[in-house]
Amino acid sequence: MAKLGVNIDHVATLRQARQGTEPDPVWAAVEAELGGADLITVHLREDRRHIQDRDVELLRQSVQVPLNLEMAALKEMVAIARRVKPAMATLVPEKRTEVTTEGGLDVAANNRAISTVVRRLSDMGITCSAFIDADLRQVHAAQQAGFTICELHTGPYALATAGPARDKEFERVRAAGEEILNSGMQLNAGHGLNYTNVQTIARLPHLSELHIGHAIVSRSLFIGLREAVARMKIAMSGVG
Ligand code: PXP
Repeated sequence: MAKLGVNIDHVATLRQARQGTEPDPVWAAVEAELGGADLITVHLREDRRHIQDRDVELLRQSVQVPLNLEMAALKEMVAIARRVKPAMATLVPEKRTEVTTEGGLDVAANNRAISTVVRRLSDMGITCSAFIDADLRQVHAAQQAGFTICELHTGPYALATAGPARDKEFERVRAAGEEILNSGMQLNAGHGLNYTNVQTIARLPHLSELHIGHAIVSRSLFIGLREAVARMKIAMSGVG
């Protein structure tokens, strides 16, 4: 079964609503690990709307599973990643006005600049993942840029109405996933996945990791984070 990377950004969103100290994402990471998280993910945004620099530093010291830092390909973020040295960095596009990551990274249009970032991170032993749309051009560009992992954007699949529209989006993800594997890269996927739509994606052949945040943190309000993570793993396995 694929591993589960739990994105805890929205624990920090709640904390930042009062600019205070609780709930603490470091505590959330412990609970997520106890629930079975295989990786912990945080996105340090340029505008620091949720995760703060202090969170990344403390998580790097305390998390027992690999830490995945989502980041824009910006000089400031590269410097932070090189200093903190997470196990993995997922490069994402970032717009100040967006509510969440809206689309995949356009590696094809920015191949030279992105390759430089990948090299600077890889030099520090950080594994680089490209968050891309299910588009074969982007898969090939990611390989050229030196990524060893691609995370396919499942947002369009998740938002599509069940039936032919969703089937079409799933087929795009499946085909891009096949190309990622044929290109010798690791296949990950994420965005917009929840307890009901995850199972189809989790069944993709040779899928390594799913990265899920909002649905798990939302469910945790009612049943606790440890249990919300455990139940997502059950949903992924198709048993629940
Ligand atoms: N993967 C990436 C690259 C993301 O940017 C996000 C959102 O931060 C996720 C996965 C998780 O998406 P969601 O919160 O919709 O589960």
